Amino acid sequence: MSLKGKVAIVTGGNSGIGKAISLGLAKAGANIVIDYVAHPEATEALQHEIAAMGSEAIGVQADVSSVAQLQALVDAAVAKFGRVDIMVNNAGVETRTSVLDTTEDQYDKVLSINLKSAFFGTQIAARQMVAQGGGGRIINVTSVHEDWPMPGNTAYCLAKGGMRMLTRTAGVELAAHGIRVVGVGPGAVATPINLSTMQDPSLLAKLNAAIPLGRMAEPEEIAHVVVFAAGDGGSYLTATTIFADGGIMQSSVGL
Ligand code: BGC
Repeated sequence: MSLKGKVAIVTGGNSGIGKAISLGLAKAGANIVIDYVAHPEATEALQHEIAAMGSEAIGVQADVSSVAQLQALVDAAVAKFGRVDIMVNNAGVETRTSVLDTTEDQYDKVLSINLKSAFFGTQIAARQMVAQGGGGRIINVTSVHEDWPMPGNTAYCLAKGGMRMLTRTAGVELAAHGIRVVGVGPGAVATPINLSTMQDPSLLAKLNAAIPLGRMAEPEEIAHVVVFAAGDGGSYLTATTIFADGGIMQSSVGL
């Protein structure tokens, strides 16, 4: 599938699922704007990797929980490449705290990094897409937890649930402009967000046992779905979510 000449912004684009998405979109031919908050050296290494594939990439340090910094991110993309075709709202964090013990700071952090960033990322990218004409694609990297409770991770579930409705509502609003809005909902993926689980053999075994495919996903397996949804394969997709979860949402212990 070719995304040759397209310009994509990936928030949280230098690590985990975001890094795999940056590489996947670049492999399909897109030029990439890698948003990051930490590890400029990882961003630089990724830029070189993308250049070696024949695409171009820039790194932009922007905290996506700030609307001003999101605007600066989109402005940097337009300054460098002249347009934005694909916006991937990927940046995310979780605190793994329950409804009983989540603090105000934790709540604000989780809601703003996951949900506020996706709302304003959608708004600012869509304004640019409308202004330049020709439509666009907005991909929200959500989670199985946009719809499926995760006890002990309440604020994260709220944020992902909000992204679910952002995808549906903005997808309907923006369809008339030729802008498709699609959610990609991963299950458990081998990335830094799941490090504590991966480092605990009994917890990992429990998680793997709950997944019909029997294992966590590799970040590339999520990136493939994002590239599909952002490309021609996704031409009739909007206002919905594709889950790539190894079946975990449907699994049943058969009791
Ligand atoms: C969460 C992980 C969790 C996984 C599957 C992800 O969205 O970030 O903490 O293990 O969903 O439940």
